[in-house]
Amino acid sequence: MSDASLLREKGYSHNVVHEFDRRNLVRGFVLKGGKPTLLLIAEENLGSPESLLDLPVLESLLGSSSITYEDGVVDGLSLVSQSKVEQVILDESVFDRECIYLKTAGRNSAVELNPEDLRKVLADLGFDSESDRPKLIPYDFGYAAAGEMTRHRVISGIQPSGDMTLGNYLGAIINWKKQIEQYDENFFFLADLHSLTVLPDPADLRDRIRQTVMTLVACGLDLDKAVLFRQSDLGGYHAQLGWIFSCLTPEGRLEQMTQFKDKSQKQQVVGTGLKTYPILMAADIALYQATLVPVGDDQRQHLELCREIVRRFNHRYGYAMPVPKADIPKVLARVKSLTDGIKKMSKSDENRDGCVYLLDSPDEISRKMKRAKTDSDPTLRFDEENRPEVTNLLSMFKVLSGRDSEPDAAIEAHFEGKGAGGLKKN
Ligand code: TRP
Repeated sequence: MSDASLLREKGYSHNVVHEFDRRNLVRGFVLKGGKPTLLLIAEENLGSPESLLDLPVLESLLGSSSITYEDGVVDGLSLVSQSKVEQVILDESVFDRECIYLKTAGRNSAVELNPEDLRKVLADLGFDSESDRPKLIPYDFGYAAAGEMTRHRVISGIQPSGDMTLGNYLGAIINWKKQIEQYDENFFFLADLHSLTVLPDPADLRDRIRQTVMTLVACGLDLDKAVLFRQSDLGGYHAQLGWIFSCLTPEGRLEQMTQFKDKSQKQQVVGTGLKTYPILMAADIALYQATLVPVGDDQRQHLELCREIVRRFNHRYGYAMPVPKADIPKVLARVKSLTDGIKKMSKSDENRDGCVYLLDSPDEISRKMKRAKTDSDPTLRFDEENRPEVTNLLSMFKVLSGRDSEPDAAIEAHFEGKGAGGLKKN
């Protein structure tokens, strides 16, 4: 089947063209070595096909060091629909363009498509970037080409929802502390405007802001080296840029946000703010021309949207702000519940034993840890798929003991013969 017939069948508007602007051509490659992967990359970012193999990033994206590729792939979407590849790596810069062209069989013909529709078709085929095991990996090859930056302006926000958890600490705050050590410009803020989406009681919100600030300081956030502020103190600027950004954001993109889908189901009246939440978040970042945003994995999708909005702004009005990069921890990007290794550790969980709060007493924490679910195999191994609970606990140990750059095997060896009981005591 050709891509054109696939798109026709699925009802996406497109054209088959014979003359097109090559700058908007998206080339397809099948990469082999690790998981068979379709790479869709804008011709502009490619250089020569041979240079692809020089991209060290491919090794990490594929999990293999011996990658080979097949060039000249046509009808790449059809390969995806026939399950000939297990993952897709998509050059994010395709979203800078009004339309893109995918090569299809036939002399010099290409399918003209709206970049948003490319994302939708892939999602339709089961390739999205949100699930726990994403089959779509968006990657900014334009950025990769420019090399890693050594200077960054870091920004991140946290909702002052009180009751901060070990999940907040391991997913975000511990990373903030690392950035502070590494970079000179660090901004962190309490996203109280974002908290308004759940209609808090004003006095309660004020208390929670205070409590969150105290907890952050207690976690060791060094305020000599970082600025900590309340979003609403500069609320006018955030809201104003948010408005401008809202005009550049297709509404459908907001509806794709997993967090919106989850949260809107839980609320009787869904305020518009719940939906436009990621736009304000994009403004929070771009307002300060920040380049690096340390966040937990749950914010990955929001950051992706932020990058698109910033690109679209720059494309339309001239370069005004850098496209920021998310910094999501590799180990423990999602801290799981202590009682169920499938669920995320969440303060809204009814079972409070699944969640360690930063303000829990040491006794309470040790009680929760002792009762944490494990399995009957006494040999501790990292195995996300089959042993999520043990993997969660081992990962916590790994990060909290500062050994996150060590291989998993070193941690496993540390607990050799000690069993789950030994791990929980740590
Ligand atoms: N949405 C983020 C969260 O819930 C908080 C947040 C708001 C944020 N604005 C931001 C994080 C800007 C990083 C950058 O955790």
